[in-house]
Amino acid sequence: MSEVEPRAETIDALRGSRRVAALTGAGISAESGLETFRGKGGIWEKYDFNKLATLEGFLEDPCLVWSWYDERRLGIYNSGPNMAHEALAELEARADEFALITQNIDGYHREAGSRNVIELHGNIWRARCMGGCQTIEFREVPLSTVPPLCKRCGELLRPDVVWFGEPLPTDAIDRGLAAAAACDLMLVVGTSGTVQPAASIPVYAKRSGAYVLEVNTEPTPLSKLADDSVYGKAGDVLPALLEMARGRCGHDG
Ligand code: OAD
Repeated sequence: MSEVEPRAETIDALRGSRRVAALTGAGISAESGLETFRGKGGIWEKYDFNKLATLEGFLEDPCLVWSWYDERRLGIYNSGPNMAHEALAELEARADEFALITQNIDGYHREAGSRNVIELHGNIWRARCMGGCQTIEFREVPLSTVPPLCKRCGELLRPDVVWFGEPLPTDAIDRGLAAAAACDLMLVVGTSGTVQPAASIPVYAKRSGAYVLEVNTEPTPLSKLADDSVYGKAGDVLPALLEMARGRCGHDG
């Protein structure tokens, strides 16, 4: 584990901020064994997103897409949240207001105990009917039939996630932007900051006067915006930062 060396202002912000928001990406689940999307060996280096993460790809071959999502679902099911997810849940318990805004679809933040979770890109455990009834179903792994059909109307179900070229759920992006505009401290954890509109959320927070703290294994386009970037694995860095913030006031508060 590398040494965590935040600015003194970062520890003050962690201690003193009452309204906190966090934006997370695939990197926070890397230590749970889930692959990230970009970089060496990332998902989009191995797979063609046009075939697997667009509506056109799904309509062309729903079996292929569902089989791929089922494989990912199995990986998520067989692992669980890590220390980084738990640290953010602990931070929520200490703050007056907290919003956990995530691009991840794995559901690990809720599993770790986070309560106010805003899922910008949907959730892999939900399936949505493509017919008129729009029923949402929760599906376990593995799927008994591929592709799965709606129990109510028999139409094709799709993963209830956001694909390339699709808009984000209005409620989720509205809540995310509102939380960013209202927070004193914004954490940006394990995201490359390259996918819009999620990547604009820290910009809103900064413009509204929040202290922006980035945690990542390497610099990103958001590093210039951040007041501090702490480089290392989120599962090491976040618990260490919380410990430092505790140490400075000498109690758990
Ligand atoms: P990316 O794969 O683009 O970026 C992952 C980030 O996590 C990178 O900046 C890594 O440096 C960092 N990282 C890796 N391991 C880490 C660790 N242990 N601790 C901290 N940071 C670590 O993933 P996202 O930014 O989440 O969208 O990608 C955004 C969206 O692009 C995804 O939601 C997905 C994808 O296409 C859709 O599928 C719609």
